[in-house]
Amino acid sequence: MKYGYFDDQAREYVITRPDTPRPWSNYLGSTEYGAIITNHAGGYSFYKSGAKGRFLRMRFNSVPLDQPGRLFYLRDNANGDFWSAAWQPVGKPLDQYKSVCRHGTAYTTIESQYAGITSEATYFVPLGQTFEYWRLKVTNTTRRTRKLSVFTYCEFANLWDTAQDLVNLQYSQFITRATLEDGILGITCNPNYDFDGHDLTGCNRTWMALTGAKLAGVETTRERFTGIYGGYAAPATVVKGRCSNFLAEGDNVVGGQQANLTLKPGESRELIVLLGLGTVASHGRQTVAEFGNSERCAAELARLKAAWHAPLGNLQVVTPDREFDHMVNVWNAYNALITYTWSRSASLVYNGERDGLGFRDTVQDMLGAIPLLQEGVRPRLELMLTGQVANGGAIPVIKPFTHRPGHEAPPPDEEYRSDDCLWFFNAVPAYVAETGDVAFYNKVLPYADHGEATVFGHLRRALAFNLERTGRNGLPCGLSADWNDCIRLGYRGESVFVAFQVRLGLSVYADIAERLGQPAEAAWARTERAKLDDAIQKVCWDGQWFIWAIGQDGTIFGTKSFAEGQVYMNTQVWAVMSGAATPEQARQCLATMKRRCATPYGIVLGAPPFIKADPEIMRSTLFNAGIKENAGIFSHTQSWAVIAEVMQGNGDQAYAYYRAFMPSAYNDRAEVREVEPYVHCQTTYSKFNINEGSSRVPWLSGTASWAYYTATHWILGIRPEIEGLRIAPCLPKDWPGFTLTRKFRGLTIHVEVRKPRRKVRGLKSLTVDGQPVAGAIVPVADLRDGSRIVAVLG
Ligand code: GLC
Repeated sequence: MKYGYFDDQAREYVITRPDTPRPWSNYLGSTEYGAIITNHAGGYSFYKSGAKGRFLRMRFNSVPLDQPGRLFYLRDNANGDFWSAAWQPVGKPLDQYKSVCRHGTAYTTIESQYAGITSEATYFVPLGQTFEYWRLKVTNTTRRTRKLSVFTYCEFANLWDTAQDLVNLQYSQFITRATLEDGILGITCNPNYDFDGHDLTGCNRTWMALTGAKLAGVETTRERFTGIYGGYAAPATVVKGRCSNFLAEGDNVVGGQQANLTLKPGESRELIVLLGLGTVASHGRQTVAEFGNSERCAAELARLKAAWHAPLGNLQVVTPDREFDHMVNVWNAYNALITYTWSRSASLVYNGERDGLGFRDTVQDMLGAIPLLQEGVRPRLELMLTGQVANGGAIPVIKPFTHRPGHEAPPPDEEYRSDDCLWFFNAVPAYVAETGDVAFYNKVLPYADHGEATVFGHLRRALAFNLERTGRNGLPCGLSADWNDCIRLGYRGESVFVAFQVRLGLSVYADIAERLGQPAEAAWARTERAKLDDAIQKVCWDGQWFIWAIGQDGTIFGTKSFAEGQVYMNTQVWAVMSGAATPEQARQCLATMKRRCATPYGIVLGAPPFIKADPEIMRSTLFNAGIKENAGIFSHTQSWAVIAEVMQGNGDQAYAYYRAFMPSAYNDRAEVREVEPYVHCQTTYSKFNINEGSSRVPWLSGTASWAYYTATHWILGIRPEIEGLRIAPCLPKDWPGFTLTRKFRGLTIHVEVRKPRRKVRGLKSLTVDGQPVAGAIVPVADLRDGSRIVAVLG
């Protein structure tokens, strides 16, 4: 079933059927003023933190999943009929009610047609502001004059602390207050507190205004607006058609505003709702005066679009697969930027309790953001480097607003994860390759707790951290977890996945050391790598695949003699990615993974599922079989398999794996995946579960950055290196080629790859602006703005 289509020109996904399998969401705003919105205008808003700064309420895991939100109700005053500007919450019959939702880059527009009235509601947070716009255009398409009332509705949190707001009812309902000053609603919690208007953190003050029509009335408690039994589908105030102008002093405060419109045949009216932080006096009045008109609203929307479209424009492709292009050109890129922005904090699933930047996730998120934001990622990369502790490990979660490098307490020894800082070996070289800023390696940055080092020194410390924590078999200890949160090998248990990460890290480090003129360091890294290789070869090869891990008590996971979790995907693909596997092992382990783990919806993380394994060691056992870390399809890891196959030169296999988890490939059967077909998700139910194919936890997942990076740098294979652009595509056999335009070191570069024969990789010729290039890297010195690179494979 198809619910919508990709409009790449507008950079929008257009939902044409509102009864999507789940509410399909989008993001508005910035890390200052953030918001989630769905195709039913459901969602919430927050200041800096989804958990501690949530001022628009949404009750999680409710029915439906996304209400209330930012609602407009329309009422025909001639007959009392009413509907909402999004299909939900009133939910008129779909043979009478038409709706189209356009999710764009940090804005959403919802159009409706019902009873001869069309409406168009657009929601966004203007750049750099702490308020949101809801713009509503209403048009009478009939031949008679229509008398309508429009009502706004949103529910303010009584307390900005989400958990408290939802449970502390005996307190929170007695501290709310609504005022009306100059026609602007002021919403206050703890109204007797002073507020100086400067620090909005936890200020518990919001305001809301409506312009474009006279304010006909307000309703400020939920109890009065919906009535006790009306609910959102038939709220008492809308049924009645009249607000009572009651100003709350207690109970649940809501933003109910009414405007009455008389529309002649063909006439349109535009209402602008502004909702923001602070008081009417501190922010509201001035914001309404400056921004409360249609012209300004339109200008702000245009500015917002331009700001988001610019980074997306940094890399554009045309390939034979339009579904692939939808992802690379718009949605995967946008998804990667949103994930980079929000980490794993706020969504319809993440409620903001996981505030802050999860260390390993955020470092990996850099990979997707680097080609799009380029130098712009530097502050975040530096922030993460200063989250590294002087012993080389990391603080598991960095709080960006309060992080004080040099003054943070290091985590207790048993809480370190074994993989955290190893992700630097992916992110840091990618940043240097993109920008050419080799001097970055010499930049001195503090550690989280004490001391400082160059970036190169931070990398050295990262390796030392793992090498100093080596287990009985010469492999790195698993510590409290590796990438897999569900693995508790015991501090001294050993992680094969981390062994491969360390191996990759040592190789990357040796190359950097050589470049920086430090041959002794390069030699050190290569010696350590040789030792690690010996250990890997001695204990990790199971005959046809690599084992998973070795528990503290010596139990071997991921081996033919252990019934559950016999084949673990990650160690197969990382054996190849890290260069640890011999050519024969690489061939065999990928073949085993394909045979045992690959399915049409993606590759199962490890099979068979854990049912009996000790949950103290394999916490995956806690999950149902066939989801998440327990033999689910974990989307994040899929790209690694693609990269491994690309490295092996298997273009068709790599692409088949890529399409299996590519959201747009499911657009025509969106009911299978259920979540948004335009964004990646964390996990998909596998063949080991009755829900096979349906996916969960959309938007915020390491999948977004890895998938984007894999598509652009590995499948299409246009890869920045310090010296220039490497041209190394590995394509499906039947592709005739593709074109790509990207920004590189401030220049716009056009790449055309032609593939006249069925050979999936290997350069037959390479030219830049008509001049032949020796090797596979087009040197920076040969590039100018507008350069044209032509590569012929064969
Ligand atoms: C989730 C976590 C990530 C972890 C992964 C596997 O995606 O955000 O940090 O690596 O699960 O357990």
